[in-house]
Amino acid sequence: MQEGRIRDAQEEISPDEFDDIHHPRHGETDFEKLVEKMMSRRGFLGRGAAFAAAAFVMSAGGVDPLSAFANANRFGFEAVPAGTRDTITVPKGYSWHVVARWGDPMWSKGPEFDHATRGTGASQELAFGDNNDGMSLFHTGDRNVLAVNNEYTNIGIIHGGVGGGKPATADDVRKNKAAHGVSVVEIDQKNGKWSIVKDSPYNRKITPDTPMEITGPARGHALMKTAADPEGVRSLGTWNNCGNGATPWGTYLTCEENFHGYFSSSDPEVKVSPEFRRYGVGPKNWGYRWEMTDERFDIAKHPNEPNRAGYIVEIDPLDPESTPKKRTALGRFKHENAEVVLAANGQVVVYMGDDERGEFIYRFVSEGRYAEGGDNSNLLETGKLYAAKFADNGRGEWVELTPESTGLASQAEVCVHTRVAASAVKATTMDRAEWVAANPKKAEVYCCLTNNKNRGVKPNKGGDPTPVGGPNPRANNRYGQIVRWAPDGGDHLSNAFSWDLYVVAGNPAVHKGANAGSANVTPDNMFNSPDGLAFDRNGMLWIQTDGNYKNAKGFAGQGNNQMLVGDPVTGEIRRFMVGPRQCEVTGLEWSADGRTMFVGIQHPGERGGDSHFPGGGDTTPRSAVIAVTRDDGGVIG
Ligand code: FEO
Ligand code: CA
Ligand code: CA
Ligand code: CA
Repeated sequence: MQEGRIRDAQEEISPDEFDDIHHPRHGETDFEKLVEKMMSRRGFLGRGAAFAAAAFVMSAGGVDPLSAFANANRFGFEAVPAGTRDTITVPKGYSWHVVARWGDPMWSKGPEFDHATRGTGASQELAFGDNNDGMSLFHTGDRNVLAVNNEYTNIGIIHGGVGGGKPATADDVRKNKAAHGVSVVEIDQKNGKWSIVKDSPYNRKITPDTPMEITGPARGHALMKTAADPEGVRSLGTWNNCGNGATPWGTYLTCEENFHGYFSSSDPEVKVSPEFRRYGVGPKNWGYRWEMTDERFDIAKHPNEPNRAGYIVEIDPLDPESTPKKRTALGRFKHENAEVVLAANGQVVVYMGDDERGEFIYRFVSEGRYAEGGDNSNLLETGKLYAAKFADNGRGEWVELTPESTGLASQAEVCVHTRVAASAVKATTMDRAEWVAANPKKAEVYCCLTNNKNRGVKPNKGGDPTPVGGPNPRANNRYGQIVRWAPDGGDHLSNAFSWDLYVVAGNPAVHKGANAGSANVTPDNMFNSPDGLAFDRNGMLWIQTDGNYKNAKGFAGQGNNQMLVGDPVTGEIRRFMVGPRQCEVTGLEWSADGRTMFVGIQHPGERGGDSHFPGGGDTTPRSAVIAVTRDDGGVIG
């Protein structure tokens, strides 16, 4: 999320802004503030020079992305223009409809969404959650089960019907919690339209109160023990579930991102450890007030609770009785998504980004091997964890995080204080790593680096420098870029790789130089802040944005957040969809036959007043999963 708005002291601010106010960066000085001001006014890199590394690797691969443009047409649709309408815009010959919205009942005993009150604790516990994000579709027989993250809530919207737009009562907190987590919901298609199957035995709400098992190196460690769980092996719930992953053995991975914003302290003088500061945990939270009814979220009383969040959680979506498993072996950070690939020998490789300014990219490699039809249920319990180092010459390496390499006392500590471990090996600080996606057609992995206003300006929260260079080529980076790497020998187990930049976003209608973006960005396809990312079965890359939608100044002409398609071979990028006002487009999945694409529309109208999507009129704006189909019934991607 991070571009979303939260309520703090009457003002809607972003989590980034909140952290800046309440957890100033290590080492920030007046001089650095001055540098930030200066850099924001300068044009300092020629457009060609900034992307020399990209050109180097592209030509080494034998492909000239630009000369290939003229011949390329793997898109099959006409680009849509940028826009600011309060609806979905898709190309000619395509249609869309709503599948599931925040507050839609998943069981027939639940009431329909009430636009006046916006629901109660009881109604929300029976309904689809808010702010849907990553999602995966699972199949059993001819049934379709969609697991969808419900990342967070916009306080002014969810509590807008009562209490002056803030959680005031215990029932408000109950509703707020029940809008978070993961909605597992059967869907089916009737007369061409997908919708929720109410009362399906697969329907399940996984919330901040659902019992979970802690697995992997941190299981049972002193850092994980609490009054309610003296053995450190079971925790309650998951929240701020951002991107996702899916395993070849049919489980869903949900990724805990900004878990810190839910903790606060009843004692304002509480001692905040350096490790807590690194993750943004402190005396003040985002204002959801869960601590009002659940003292787990009070760090003065339960100082180890924050150590039990920030993980990848594995869920069996087809077994509603199953206990979700927190996979500590994959590290603790502000997880974006989890891209799973199988190495040739069956070892499981998971690529993951940590979405905060100046944090890192990680890789997990399982010890065990996937066996089709075998017991794969614990492959994510044991393995090795690595952080990425990118060199300026287009090469890079994965550095294993162990007690020996990091100086931490145990692998358990590596898996709890993972950011500290990666800092110790001098991993490369990145421009906010969002989704990672692996090309199904070749051993090649892409990652959105959404933006980073601190690049070249100030260090990350751990004090690591954030120099301009390598895959992070612009100071005060407001537009973002997509980096890609190819493991040596086409082997995801290799610790060495080559990298380049697939695209550097910008605004060529406003800027010259680095902020115009790379050569495959034009006034017709421009965007900012790439975030969601997924390949389709044909090897085309779908890019979703979570950026500045003011459509003014440096973002003039870019309109609402959007979804584009990139050809990884030619470099061409074409806009496929524009979302409604003030939304983020995030979450992407296909039906088994490839004829429906499911797309997530998160927090339309997040700043209030400007959106009534999808109901129109004067209805409450609601996050929604939509389905996009072709009017001729053909395959989409
Ligand atoms: Fe939840 Fe980094 O986006
Ligand atoms: Ca968001
Ligand atoms: Ca995201
Ligand atoms: Ca984002």
